Amino acid sequence: MPMAQRLSIGKSKFVLENYVSDPVGIRCSLAEDEQGALLGFQSLIRSTEGNRYGTPVGWGIIGTHVSPDAARTGVGTALFVASRKAAIEAGLTKIEAFIGKDNKIAQSYYERMDFETCRHTDTGVCKAWTSEEN
Ligand SMILES: CC(C)(COP(=O)(O)OP(=O)(O)OC[C@H]1O[C@@H](n2cnc3c(N)ncnc32)[C@H](O)[C@@H]1OP(=O)(O)O)[C@@H](O)C(=O)NCCC(=O)NCCS
Repeated sequence: MPMAQRLSIGKSKFVLENYVSDPVGIRCSLAEDEQGALLGFQSLIRSTEGNRYGTPVGWGIIGTHVSPDAARTGVGTALFVASRKAAIEAGLTKIEAFIGKDNKIAQSYYERMDFETCRHTDTGVCKAWTSEEN
């Protein structure tokens, strides 16, 4: 299913407002195929007071979405190469990912990207990446 179909219009608006044009955004990376079709995106924003995830202020907050058509072909890995670089350049010491507690694939993905479980909520698990550079 193409990503445009997977995301409803309401969700597309959410993505635009919260990830792509977020005023505290650090980097929103897009992955495309050779024809320019969108394969996935990853957003990295800086956590501010009262953020919806309860992430400590000043940490990064990351969100990722890869098209099911491109799953497990390395798109997510490539996106994190870009986000990791942006995080180091922005001086972040930590990045947190909020993952649904039943979303085992995303948990496995973030673990592979060197994130470690830092807390649990009623609905999810939070994993954090720690910079070795900052
Ligand atoms: C989680 C997600 C971003 C992974 O992206 P991806 O491009 O498929 O990931 P990659 O191909 O780069 O794989 C990297 C690692 O993720 C893990 N992974 C990816 N797909 C997996 C699967 N189906 N089962 C188990 N582990 C998986 C593996 O550790 C993999 O490394 P390996 O292939 O060397 O074993 C993607 O599945 C996705 O967008 N899911 C839906 C949205 C979502 O859940 N986002 C995260 C919410 S916070």
